[in-house]
Amino acid sequence: MEIVVCKDKNEASRKAADMIAALVKKNPKCVLGLATGSTPVAMYDELAKDVKAKKISFKNVKSWNLDEYYGLPPTHDQSYRYFMNENLFKKIDIKLSNTHVLNGLAKDPDKECKAYEAQIKKAGGIDLQVLGIGSDGHIAFNEPGTSLSSRTSIVYLTPSTIKDNARLFFKGKENEVPTRALSMGVGTICEAKKIVLLAFGKNKADAVKGMVEGGMSQFCTASALQMHKDAWVFCDEEAASKLKLKDYYAWRSSTVLAGACECACCCKKAAAAKGAKAKTKK
Ligand code: F6R
Repeated sequence: MEIVVCKDKNEASRKAADMIAALVKKNPKCVLGLATGSTPVAMYDELAKDVKAKKISFKNVKSWNLDEYYGLPPTHDQSYRYFMNENLFKKIDIKLSNTHVLNGLAKDPDKECKAYEAQIKKAGGIDLQVLGIGSDGHIAFNEPGTSLSSRTSIVYLTPSTIKDNARLFFKGKENEVPTRALSMGVGTICEAKKIVLLAFGKNKADAVKGMVEGGMSQFCTASALQMHKDAWVFCDEEAASKLKLKDYYAWRSSTVLAGACECACCCKKAAAAKGAKAKTKK
């Protein structure tokens, strides 16, 4: 896991957007996994700026979102479908028909979740998954006590998540936050080829500490990312403040991002491969 520690949320959002933009440029037909919540909004704004400046296009990109409140119609202003339309899809050139959010009104949630997984598989799997992290360490709505190999299913929100989401989105009215959601599982998320997780503010410091330096445990479902081969965490100083090796992670990730790493394991191999390619060309 690479931890990119940035001076603030704006710098982290831009850096994460750069990683997504690079993928979209390289593979204009890529498949993205997307998240809602307060955290990715600034990054989505950066991507919208890139589209406006014609640096990238989402015309052929497909997306699948992490989760949706169970019981809310897509037109509800607190539904995640509504959130995505307003905060990203309307601002970029993606085709709405290429965007997918779980149906919060599905009569048969199990069938809906199975079909969602089948759609992702048919599309070739998720190339890059965007994630936030709950203050209790959840990813998507995989709350403490969820199996680290869980699949997309109907789930139950903890009182702490209901409180967080009421504060941020439901004008503090906890009784209006649905208690259930449809959510991609931890196992489903970990199948994405690349992960970009964002975390901002001191409210996330314990969760980030658990995810990066805690033991892998279903008590902090984000800790499952420790097993992922290509997971990136973009965070601000406050979210990183409880990490024991914060300075080391910051130095290492900036070195890897700058491509300046001279280790024997990855960079020298890459340099050798480049050399071999050049020779074959001759
Ligand atoms: C959202 C999601 C959640 C949020 C998390 C953090 O689709 O799956 O896991 O990423 O609850 O929410 P914010 O960003 O509002 O702090």
